[in-house]
Amino acid sequence: MLEPRGAHQPIIIYRPILPSDLEVLEEIHVALFPIRYERDFFLSVVQGHGIVSWAAVDVSRSDGGRDKLVGFVTTRLMSAKESEISDLLRYNASRQDLMLVYILTLGVVENYRNHGIATSLVCEVIKYASSITNCRAVYLHVISYNLPAIHFYEKMSFACVRRLQKFYYINGQHYDSYLFVYYVNGGHSLCSPLNIVAAVAAYLRDLFKMLASKLWRKQEKHIPRYLKCKETSSLLVAQNRRILGADNSACQSV
Ligand SMILES: CC(C)(COP(=O)(O)OP(=O)(O)OC[C@H]1O[C@@H](n2cnc3c(N)ncnc32)[C@H](O)[C@@H]1OP(=O)(O)O)[C@@H](O)C(=O)NCCC(=O)NCCS
Repeated sequence: MLEPRGAHQPIIIYRPILPSDLEVLEEIHVALFPIRYERDFFLSVVQGHGIVSWAAVDVSRSDGGRDKLVGFVTTRLMSAKESEISDLLRYNASRQDLMLVYILTLGVVENYRNHGIATSLVCEVIKYASSITNCRAVYLHVISYNLPAIHFYEKMSFACVRRLQKFYYINGQHYDSYLFVYYVNGGHSLCSPLNIVAAVAAYLRDLFKMLASKLWRKQEKHIPRYLKCKETSSLLVAQNRRILGADNSACQSV
């Protein structure tokens, strides 16, 4: 189908996906992905209906395939509010018009891999997302066993923010997915100064609670036994009830 890697040094150019790419686009999706996409999806891609996409073609080919896709990326611009990562942008929640770019599919045909084609395609997506002033991130899902893609997105400095249990259902089997995010235009990452302050505050609060309970237990040791019993039976009714339900004998010994 394609000139083998090593037969020539490819010269790759990037352009929008066109109606003339329809058949090849569909063919490559069938070859690369375990999920079957509907014809309507491919029509939307080539017609640019709600989908922004880029194609990679090898203009140095000598076999007449100079304009044939060797790679592609398809994306959708969506409202941050309606996305599953709106909580990661919570400090901007007051902005109702925030947008995100979601990567629907990314692929490079096998003979053209490791030439940096996917890197260039995702750079186009990041550039596009950055050019939209109210866009805050690029995000996507990767099936948990797709290690090349996971390495790829890590290398591109995407942050893996979540593992979604049983996200995919393929051929009667459930698979988890990882959710990767690349923040643009000051979109907040988990390492934003605000998040660091929140994490330190939570740590100090837990530390304080732990010290306070230790101190309380220490003081309790010095209370005469008869007083302890009295206090337990009269003041901690609700607490005792909880203990009773859980472990009757432990309660009786108090
Ligand atoms: C994932 C994929 C798009 C990468 O395309 P590519 O053009 O080969 O990627 P690049 O050449 O830009 O690779 C950049 C980096 O990705 C990582 N990478 C790419 N292929 C890899 C592999 N097979 N194993 C481990 N890491 C890999 C490497 O870190 C690489 O950097 P390096 O060359 O400095 O080591 C391609 O393998 C593919 O199309 N896979 C099938 C479809 C798919 O899984 N799509 C992603 C679903 S979300």
